[in-house]
Amino acid sequence: MRVGVLTGGGDCPGLNAVIRAVVRKGVTEYGYEFVGFKDGWRGPIEADTMPLGIREVRGILPRGGTILGTSRTNPAKIEGGYDLIAKNLEKLGIDALIAIGGEDTLGVATKLHERGVQVVGVPKTIDNDLSATDYTFGFDTAVNIAMEAIDRLHTTAESHHRALIVEVMGRHAGWIALHAGLAGGANVILIPEIPFDIEKVCDYIEKRFQSRYAPIVVVAEGAVPVEGTMELASGELDAFGHVRLGGIGQRVADEIEKRTGKEARTTVLGHIQRGGTPTAFDRVLATRFGLHAIDAVRDGAWGTMVALRGTDIIRVALSEATGALKTVPPERYAEAQVFFG
Ligand code: F6P
Repeated sequence: MRVGVLTGGGDCPGLNAVIRAVVRKGVTEYGYEFVGFKDGWRGPIEADTMPLGIREVRGILPRGGTILGTSRTNPAKIEGGYDLIAKNLEKLGIDALIAIGGEDTLGVATKLHERGVQVVGVPKTIDNDLSATDYTFGFDTAVNIAMEAIDRLHTTAESHHRALIVEVMGRHAGWIALHAGLAGGANVILIPEIPFDIEKVCDYIEKRFQSRYAPIVVVAEGAVPVEGTMELASGELDAFGHVRLGGIGQRVADEIEKRTGKEARTTVLGHIQRGGTPTAFDRVLATRFGLHAIDAVRDGAWGTMVALRGTDIIRVALSEATGALKTVPPERYAEAQVFFG
């Protein structure tokens, strides 16, 4: 059996741990051969490959990023993109493909499966917004990085009597903001799922300044104000049609300064949340996903994705995983609201 492996979409701490586990178990227990496709779907579209054996995966467990490279290449946007992939897989003698990615990458994998390609998916995103899995690897690392930043911002905010705004990733879902904000003791958390009222945010800020603490606001990059209450800038689109975000933190700071007269500054954590070594939780989860993904290949469980349910790794249909995003339910947000202000 010759198995192709690719990583697509934004990178994420733990990708290398998945690749390592897939290859180690696949070679030693099942005698499979592996081919690495470079840079997400660009690899199979252009037949751009790299060797992927035990030697290539030595020492990569703690390394962030992905040794295969990644991209947001979308085969649907390239003429004959899906046909090119099918043709190249056949030409390269690939019997099965393991696609490691988020909603976009796994959406492409779903389409390929419908066309008869033997594919297994592994969920990945720091945003933790994929349905059908309780957690994705990379999320815990991102939350820990954001929490550490919030801890540091508390002391400098207090010294200067300033409001500090921390903008974290999370395009459609506020999981990183919610968890990092809860863990870091934020005074307000703004998430994409629930449009915020800037007046209320300012009330929380004022209230916090009345105590000896300075306020910390955690805002997800995809958070939006209640319609008509604040102006927003629009951004460019990527190949999957997503707006390139970033900027809401600064807008919130500007409004706070204008409305309260208090100094407000913004820290945008950006790609720092996605870089570097994964936490122990993410290394273990990614490793288990890899081990179970190669078992799915052995069982011919095509069109499935490995997922975490409780503490078990299960298989779900790829279509189930990419059908709807997992967003923060209002009752989870309400838990955090107890600490606002
Ligand atoms: O989907 C993961 C993610 O990190 C989002 O949180 C963020 O909006 C996006 O990727 C940023 O992508 P890029 O690095 O391509 O700008």
